[in-house]
Amino acid sequence: MTKKKIVFSGIQPTGDLHIGNYLGAIKHWVADQDLCDSIFCVVDLHAITIFQDPRVLRDKIRQTVGLLLACGIDPNKSLLFVQSHVPAHSELAWILNCVTPVGWLERMTQYKDKAAKQESVSTGLLDYPVLQAADILLYQADYVPVGEDQRQHIELTRDISLRFNHLYGETFNLPDGMIPKVGAKIMGFDEPTTKMSKSSAVNQNFHAVGLLDSPDQVWSVLKRATTDSEKEIVFSDDPKKAGVNNLLTVYQAFTGKSRDEIQAHFAGQLYGALKRQVADAVIEALKPIQERYNQYMQDATALDHYMRAAAERAAERSAPTLKTVKERVGFTLLA
Ligand code: TRP
Repeated sequence: MTKKKIVFSGIQPTGDLHIGNYLGAIKHWVADQDLCDSIFCVVDLHAITIFQDPRVLRDKIRQTVGLLLACGIDPNKSLLFVQSHVPAHSELAWILNCVTPVGWLERMTQYKDKAAKQESVSTGLLDYPVLQAADILLYQADYVPVGEDQRQHIELTRDISLRFNHLYGETFNLPDGMIPKVGAKIMGFDEPTTKMSKSSAVNQNFHAVGLLDSPDQVWSVLKRATTDSEKEIVFSDDPKKAGVNNLLTVYQAFTGKSRDEIQAHFAGQLYGALKRQVADAVIEALKPIQERYNQYMQDATALDHYMRAAAERAAERSAPTLKTVKERVGFTLLA
């Protein structure tokens, strides 16, 4: 049997996870758990590169772990842990800092975008991609499933890996990004030509459906979804049908029905009826996730216990690579 590929991904605990995150990423991670050696990390160290209220952050970290478990990340198959619980991430990030030219970081487009929105830019924000490289290289990941916006960070991780290996000898492998093709993308309901994203939403209230939204909240977003002035309910690449196409895509993803079946079903119906049925499909799909989530959140001790055990496993898994790195740079006196 060939060894399973190691897949690593990081999830920020700051945004409220929405159906775009679920259909575009989480659902695929859940499905691939049997095929891959999957590692998921809630990246709280990355979160504080922009100031976070500590009480809010604390709750968000728990919620993110609970929600990922509720979505079907299975602790018996995958490793899901919180980044700050494993000191090796910070340790490796420091060592990688010392082989990473500042110029590489100043060129990152995400840094430039985020920095432009800040009054005062922290060193951590500039250094963000080095910590991300440490996350990935610590586990010798083969694949990194991320969105298009992270392509540059994965390239940088490869550059850092090559540079460290060149300076100190072969230590890290070269990870590949796993970036989904367009089409699997869920768009904002208010603005169906831009990808669903809580942070970049023009209209925060009607843009996305959160995984924890109540049936009323789901309907209030869906009933305002942007459509067009025609009547045709069809899958289409035509930009003016983007709203209807997005509604049908969401319906298809949650019901698992075929495109033909869906188009036949909706033929001749009105947009109002389409929206109601998409909302019902979403509500139905979110119900079991929310029930499981509530169970996890009710038992704080069990969740803490889980996080502690997961952190220990992550520390054990990353220890050999960190040890090699320290040997390579000459930190061996007490080894
Ligand atoms: N920067 C990633 C994002 O915002 C999150 C992240 C941190 C990550 N560390 C990672 C993603 C390691 C993949 C691998 O989406």
